[in-house]
Amino acid sequence: MNAKDAAPAKADTDKSATLSVGGRQTQMPIRSGTVGPDVIDVGRLYRDTGCFTYDPGFTSTANCSSKITYIDGDKGVLLYRGYPIDQLAESSNFVEVCYLLLYGELPTRPQRESFVTTITRHTMVHEQMTRFFSGFRRDAHPMAVMCGSVGALSAFYHDSTDINDPHQRVVASHRLVAKMPTLAAMAYKYSVGQPFIYPRNDLDYTSNFLQMCFAVPCEPYIVNPVVSKALDRILILHADHEQNASTSTVRLAGSSGANPFACIAAGIACLWGPAHGGANEAALKMLEEIGTVDRVPEYVKKAKDKNSEFRLMGFGHRVYKNYDPRAKVMQQTCHEVLDALGVKDQQLLKVAMELERIALQDDYFVEKKLYPNIDFYSGITLRAMGFPTSMFTVLFAVARTVGWVSQWKEMIEDPEQKIGRPRQLYIGASERPYVPVERRG
Ligand code: SDX
Repeated sequence: MNAKDAAPAKADTDKSATLSVGGRQTQMPIRSGTVGPDVIDVGRLYRDTGCFTYDPGFTSTANCSSKITYIDGDKGVLLYRGYPIDQLAESSNFVEVCYLLLYGELPTRPQRESFVTTITRHTMVHEQMTRFFSGFRRDAHPMAVMCGSVGALSAFYHDSTDINDPHQRVVASHRLVAKMPTLAAMAYKYSVGQPFIYPRNDLDYTSNFLQMCFAVPCEPYIVNPVVSKALDRILILHADHEQNASTSTVRLAGSSGANPFACIAAGIACLWGPAHGGANEAALKMLEEIGTVDRVPEYVKKAKDKNSEFRLMGFGHRVYKNYDPRAKVMQQTCHEVLDALGVKDQQLLKVAMELERIALQDDYFVEKKLYPNIDFYSGITLRAMGFPTSMFTVLFAVARTVGWVSQWKEMIEDPEQKIGRPRQLYIGASERPYVPVERRG
């Protein structure tokens, strides 16, 4: 059945909300999902009352229905297509999770083998892509390079930009999942002045990414299985997260009919912000600035100071008002990787753990329900693996691409979807006549 034909979730006929505006009552249907908060359908509010809703930052606004990821922020629950994140991190692998997010079910063995082959065969980029990189300064931030190079994919793959063709949507999704590690590795190699390393079809997705980043033509590169397994788990943790800022950006860009490569480039741009995916880079820089355990109280004090712009990067979350379940797995992975690599510089980990210990006991953080999020421990782990700080958000983008394309595909196939076009509360000047310059005082 064509997904467009799928009937939208029905409103619960016996549940509605009544709103009184100017003495006039308006009924709005209430819709329930499989699990989680009901929604009040305000689609007819403006027509019935002449009013808009007002919700900066969308703190109480659902902009779509989705079957992909469910988060319970109070209980610290995260499900990908119903499967708990800790079970997937423990027992699955990133490419299998990509299949799950894209197609809704865990693959059978033949389905998984076919999907792995498809993704593997799409990892190369058009050879002319390499010329884009020489246009960037060597010290360009890799996220700037990713914004440019991923958007440029639109110029190469015209046979998968027609969003109305289901086959082209699938090909574009596969190309994006497959090529992000290649482009990310090229951005890194370019920044360190080393030659690009081609993908290898004999390696799994994450091992291939590691060899494209760290191999050099002069000698064989041996993938460290501990690092590969840990990075694969980190990619799983970052793969999708409901309607976060960058996913909402991808959905909004896609709602106009823009091609998927351009939409993902928009998502990368949004993810770059330090309040979002850029927090992993900012968190590590914060830990380095704190430097030693004895300076932690000074920074906790700064974070609580209303007059200070300083925030504990890697702390707090719009949805999680409990411990981010991904942060728990991230902390465990951090310990495993540092131990396995015999990383002596565990000073940053000590600072992070002391920061967490103090913050979780402090009334300010407890009352505001601020806990470590996924970005708090990821930086320490990625640095121990050999990635520079500037690559941390790029790795986040590599992982999140499958979430973005899954959400984009769901949006395109949603019978309710239309171009996103929010309204506003206008607080500017009332209408006034033009004043010629000679009369402007
Ligand atoms: C990600 O949405 C997602 O799902 C995102 C993500 C994903 O997977 O896609 O999970 C990935 O982006 C994780 C978040 C990474 N960002 C950071 O770690 C940056 C530091 N955190 C904050 O900037 C903040 O917590 C946000 C942006 C994450 C959430 O901001 P909100 O929900 O808008 O909350 P807020 O800014 O209104 O803060 C509520 C209160 C404020 O105090 P009051 O004005 O009420 O007195 O808590 C305070 C804030 O000042 N606060 C912090 C704080 N975070 C919030 N105080 C100190 N340190 C912090 N980190």
